[in-house]
Amino acid sequence: MADRNGSTGVPEETQNLMPNENAPSESDVSLDLLAQKVQESLALGNRHKFWETQPVGQFKDIGDTSLPEGPIEPPTPISEVKQEPYNLPNLYEWVTCDIDSEEMCAEVYNLLTNNYVEDDENMFRFNYSKEFLRWALRPPGYFKSWHIGVRVKSSKKLVAFITGVPARIRVRDNVVTMAEVNFLCVHKKLRSKRLAPVMIKEVTRRVHLENIWQAAYTAGVVLPTPVSTCQYWHRSLNPKKLIDVGFSRLGARMTMSRTIKLYKLPESTVTPGFRKMEPHDVPAVTRLLREYLSQFAIAPDFDENDVEHWLLPKENVVDSFLVASPETHEITDFCSFYTLPSSILGNPNYSTLKAAYSYYNVSTKTPLLQLMNDALIVAKQKDFDVFNALDVMQNESFLKELKFGPGDGKLHYYLYNYRIRQAVLASELGLVLL
Ligand SMILES: CC(C)(COP(=O)(O)OP(=O)(O)OC[C@H]1O[C@@H](n2cnc3c(N)ncnc32)[C@H](O)[C@@H]1OP(=O)(O)O)[C@@H](O)C(=O)NCCC(=O)NCCS
Repeated sequence: MADRNGSTGVPEETQNLMPNENAPSESDVSLDLLAQKVQESLALGNRHKFWETQPVGQFKDIGDTSLPEGPIEPPTPISEVKQEPYNLPNLYEWVTCDIDSEEMCAEVYNLLTNNYVEDDENMFRFNYSKEFLRWALRPPGYFKSWHIGVRVKSSKKLVAFITGVPARIRVRDNVVTMAEVNFLCVHKKLRSKRLAPVMIKEVTRRVHLENIWQAAYTAGVVLPTPVSTCQYWHRSLNPKKLIDVGFSRLGARMTMSRTIKLYKLPESTVTPGFRKMEPHDVPAVTRLLREYLSQFAIAPDFDENDVEHWLLPKENVVDSFLVASPETHEITDFCSFYTLPSSILGNPNYSTLKAAYSYYNVSTKTPLLQLMNDALIVAKQKDFDVFNALDVMQNESFLKELKFGPGDGKLHYYLYNYRIRQAVLASELGLVLL
């Protein structure tokens, strides 16, 4: 459920990028804001009729440190898992989406292209490509049965979608096999009819049938209860277009030509030994990444198969670069980003915003700032308009200096059927969901 309201959208300002040492960190601010939001919603008597029935951290338990960390409910024998799908309203039927099929993949693509996540002002909508969807939905060990659609019985039109893929995720010292749930989408004409809870229950049932009892997901909305809250930051690569389409605004006392100059990058990368990742790099990158991710409270437990799938470059889907020491050929640093364009809604001149999203980055020898500056340079060479990054892992250390500006939306991370005693800071998160 990678709802990132705001992440498709507008940075608060293109200016005001100077670091302020005395200001509270972004993570402190996010946690305070979250606490405030939860309190407001409780005061208003806002209930979560569905989520209150689910094994997730509940708002009423926030701050109760006597509750144990770990699974909220124990697994049940598979034979006791409901064997038939949940009931849908009469006009609709379940379909398992075979994403290998060109036809099915196109149907899913069209549903998402027209109905998936938009920014708060409805100026941009995520436009995941078909190749991206195939990549996101077929990692090692994936289950076809977790790619779930809903059709109108009579017309066979696809009107809703939800997916899971399996992943090993470490929460502090425990590696847990989970489902990463994503791409929850209900057609615009079928909203607010409580179809989403049925979709979520059905994917949960199919996950249970594989003897998996936990899930991880993200959303732009506050639900019971985030394990962490982070923020998107945006680095303009093509400031003129971003301003023309309303993604960003010209800063106070700035002209277009000064803005273009501000965001200008060198033509080529600066780090000696910086090159594209290749198949023979998989073992070394896996070692580097595993070591790096071990410092975070929540992170994927990647093996070589995972790294091959998630991080080997795939044209127009994922880009990965590394630094190989020119002398020893040792691989010391790594950076990656994925390609997720957004449709620009109702602009006469432009239809697509080409965005790169920071994925996993590791620095051991090259300073992270320099490594990410090289990532920006290759993203610019590849004609991306903007480079987005969350304030997760060590990203805060380069965001302001590399002229990223904060976005206007938050992204909340959630775990299903796994309690953590206290929310973790964005900087303690080592997990990026697509
Ligand atoms: C998200 C979406 C599927 C929800 O459907 P809907 O028709 O608006 O809502 P429904 O009436 O079916 O269901 C409402 C319930 O779903 C929950 N819900 C809404 N969005 C959710 C999300 N992103 N993740 C998990 N649950 C969500 C609501 O909190 C509510 O449950 P509650 O009463 O316990 O709070 C729909 O708005 C949509 O397709 N939006 C565009 C794409 C999008 O944002 N997808 C989510 C990506 S994470």
